[in-house]
Amino acid sequence: MKEIKVSATATLFNDVSELSSEDQMLMNKAVEARKKAYAPYSKFSVGAALLLENGEIVLGSNQENAAYPSGMCAERVAIWKAGSEFPGEKIKKLVITASSTISKVDKPVGPCGACRQTLSEFEINQKEPFEVIFMGEVGEVVKTASLLSLLPFSFDSSYL
Ligand code: THU
Repeated sequence: MKEIKVSATATLFNDVSELSSEDQMLMNKAVEARKKAYAPYSKFSVGAALLLENGEIVLGSNQENAAYPSGMCAERVAIWKAGSEFPGEKIKKLVITASSTISKVDKPVGPCGACRQTLSEFEINQKEPFEVIFMGEVGEVVKTASLLSLLPFSFDSSYL
């Protein structure tokens, strides 16, 4: 028996102005996407922007439904849009922002577990990590170099 250490490394920025100009541009796109969220039930809007290797920027926002589990997160809307419109195109960056009409979201909002699982398959298939950058509406921004770093001991096709 031995203990192993599982850790993730991230960079924490005080606010969006500390990001590179490309990352700020992508965050602005994610904000644009966030404004198109359909979130009448949770009042929590999420926007995601994916930068692909071919330069395309694919946007997604959460889309809710009266039958709650039938709704979908912004990240999966964006990744499936990218997968269906640009199959096989590598993802370079995923940028996420969230806001709420109930209270100011001032903490970074990372992708949920189901989104991490879905996103991980894209990173595995492209054999290259993509950056994940996320924030709330204001305040600190987190940047990680790889999606899989956010999902230790993940499940993948090698188990099947
Ligand atoms: N949501 C996302 O869009 N992405 C996440 O990673 C977390 C949660 C959405 C789903 C739902 O519409 C709302 O936020 C509240 O959970």
